[in-house]
Formats: sequence, structure tokens, C-alpha cells
Amino acid sequence: MDSILIKGGRELHGDIPIAGAKNACLTLMPATLLSDEPLTLTNAPRLSDIATMTTLLRSLGAEVQGLQDGQVLALSSHNLVNHVAEYDIVRKMRASILVLGPMLARERHAVVSLPGGCAIGARPVDLHLQALEALGAELELRDGYVHAKAPGGLKGGIVEFPLVSVGATENALMAATLAKGTTELRNAAREPEIVDLAQCLRRMGAQIEGEGTETITIQGVDRLGGATHRVVTDRIELGTYMLAPAITGGEVTCLGGRIDLVGAFCEKLDAAGISVEETEKGLKVARRNGRVSAVDVTTEPFPGFPTDLQAQMMALLCTAEGRSVLEEKIFENRFMHAPELMRMGAKIDVHGGTATVTGVERLKGAPVMATDLRASVSLILAGLAAEGETMVNRVYHLDRGYERVEEKLGNLGARIERVAGI
Ligand code: EPZ
Repeated sequence: MDSILIKGGRELHGDIPIAGAKNACLTLMPATLLSDEPLTLTNAPRLSDIATMTTLLRSLGAEVQGLQDGQVLALSSHNLVNHVAEYDIVRKMRASILVLGPMLARERHAVVSLPGGCAIGARPVDLHLQALEALGAELELRDGYVHAKAPGGLKGGIVEFPLVSVGATENALMAATLAKGTTELRNAAREPEIVDLAQCLRRMGAQIEGEGTETITIQGVDRLGGATHRVVTDRIELGTYMLAPAITGGEVTCLGGRIDLVGAFCEKLDAAGISVEETEKGLKVARRNGRVSAVDVTTEPFPGFPTDLQAQMMALLCTAEGRSVLEEKIFENRFMHAPELMRMGAKIDVHGGTATVTGVERLKGAPVMATDLRASVSLILAGLAAEGETMVNRVYHLDRGYERVEEKLGNLGARIERVAGI
């Protein structure tokens, strides 16, 4: 297992490219299952999660080709030979559940392994299943798999989500495009990745209105065609790299960054004393003056503060002047970066879903361990600002969601290198 070694304390300066959104790409790729015509995705990120989704789609008989060094994905599922998404692949990546809705809608049957939990929580899929049942699916849970059937095809209906779920909204949205009649998704997720998916489905011929609001209405059609679609910018990678100059004291422009993708996050940066300027190249970020100020953060569904930036924000607040309270309202166990940050001298008190951070002048480099994707990059950010050396172990977590992190940060002046594992 590889590690990342950082010699901290250097200000970062320059431009950093932001890739296409992992969490958009992971729902756009299964959309190929809705049509027998080719789907081309441009601006695709080069990440291990994308490789896992590629393996899964190929196991179903879809063709997936990575072109231009993986930045273009050419997908086609005109010849699906297998309707079982095996546990061995699904267990590696929970987003695999997103093949269920499209495969059921077009093929009228699907067998998908339940994904199981992960480090940050139990991550049930009950809302996905409730939504598909509301569209007429017959579901049976057996031997750890969801056996789904819709012999006469799915039928439009009302889907009332009891709580906001990104994945369940995506599964239901894709399934509804081929359901007979009208579907209304109520209390739908509003994330930019949902908007991106709806725009791609519309290019394929779907009839959708209201994406980005809490109610999405879909008129089912008999079939969908092919499309070419550019994956939206990754707002979580954007927010993560905006924190690099914030924590080191430099000035960095995140190329292609847009304020509308990170509105609530920018409000907190502003309150912490970080300036964000929208330029024609992207978002230019710098500290307004000396030390960062403490701010309180509560994670919420979009357009609130994203849970996927909570760990990274905590790293910044570990060096802020004053006390910050972070409330994690989306997942039940998303503070695993806290004990690792404390190994670097951070002062963090965790009680249930609340973490209280008392800022310190300087963190100290130390060997730390990545536990999940966003926790791992939070430790990288802390290492950039810390005095001395930080070795982040188990960085396979990092490679799931961040392309070439050491190269991108190295280009900004960071002293960072990958140490090949034994
Ligand atoms: C998506 O996960 C993202 N993953 C997550 O990003 C992100 O943290 C999350 O949305 C919230 O924004 C992808 O898009 C691939 P949810 P998802 O359904 O869809 C509960 C990252 O770091 N819930 O919105 O799984 C769930 O337990 C990853 O890139 C149910 O109870 O998230 C959670 O508490 C991590 N039943 C809450 O809802 C369900 O059927 C929100 O989950 C589904 C979800």
C-alpha cells in the first residue's frame, strides 16, 4: 500500500486544474444501461472508482472504452448479457447500486448485490428500493442481493423521499425516464451532480423538469438514444484544493472553479478570513491576513455545507484562532480523521455527531493513517501546513477520489511525494 510523504510549512502558489466530478461520473456511467445507443462522457476524472464502475458495467456486457488517457469514456450497452451485479465488485464501491434503476427500467429485471456499509456509516439503500417499488418494481431481498422485476415495465408514480438521498434520487430519476406515464420525485436531492445527470438524460431524449429543486417531474418515454455529455466540474475536489492556500497561506487559482458549485462552503471560508475571487480562469483563493478565524460548520444536503468537505474544513480549523464547532448531520461516523489530526497536535473533542476544535498555532508532522476518502485528503492538507514531515499511509483511499494529488500539489510548490508500498 502506497503512502504520501509531505514536508510541510511551505506556502503554495499557482494554478491547479480541477477534474470532472467523481460523483457525477459514477451516476452518468450507469445511464448507458438505459439505451442501446452509444453514450460518450468527456471531462471524465481518472480515478480508481471510475475503473471499478467500468469493471461492473463490463461484467453486465456493456462496452466501456477509455479514450484520451481516460478523459473520454465511450460507453455502449446494446448487448447486455448479464443482469447480475456481483457482490465482489459492488462491495468495493457503494455507487454500484446505481446500476439497479436503469437496468430494471430497460431490461425489466436486475439482480444487484446489496452494497453493505462502509467506514463512514451503515449506508442503507432502503430509499432506493422504496422509490423503485413506487414505480411498480417487484423486489425481493435474498442472499444479500436485491432481485428486482418489472415484467410489464415500470409505471410512473409519486416518490416521496422521507429524507434527502443523492443516490436514491439518481436511481429513481434514471428509472423514471422509461417508466410509463408521469413520475414525481418529492424531497429530491438538489446536488449539482443530479442536475448534471438530468441534463445528460435530456440529451438522450428523456423528458425531465425541476432538477436542482426538491421536486423533479419526469414524463416516461418508450426509449432513449445516445448522447455526448461533459461531466460537470468536481465541486468537492474544488473545495479541497481551495483549502490548500487557505491552510498554507499562499495564493492559488482553481482552474474552472465556479462559485455556484461551492456557495455555502465559500460563505464559511469568507467568515474564516479567506478571500475567494471569481476570475476568468477560475476561483482565486488566498488568506486575507494572518491567522484563520474559527467558524462553526453544520453539514446539510445541497445547497448547504457539503458533508464531503467536512473533514477538509476541520483540518483548516485545527490551525484557526479560536474554537469551532462542526456538526456532521449526514453520516453517523464521519470524524475518523479527528484522532489522526490529534496525532499532529490538533485539539479536537468529539461527542457523537459534534466535533469541537480548539485551534493551535502550528500542527506537527507525524505518521497518520487514511481511513476513508475525504479523511485521507484532510490529512494531506494538515501535512501541508504542519511543521516537519507527515507520512499519510493507506492512500488507496485517496486515489478513489483525487487524480494525481502529489503532482497537482507539487506543481504549487508543495514538498510531497508518493512512497511506493511494499
Ligand atoms: C452520495 O452518497 C455521495 N456518493 C457521497 O460522497 C456523499 O457524501 C453523499 O451523497 C451525500 O452528499 C456518490 O455520489 C457516489 P445519500 P449517497 O444517499 O448517495 C442515508 C464521497 O466522499 N440513506 O445522500 O450514498 C445515508 O445513510 C462520497 O465522494 C438512507 O438511510 O448518500 C446518509 O445518512 C461519500 N437510506 C444519508 O441518507 C438510503 O437508501 C444521505 O445519503 C440512502 C441513504
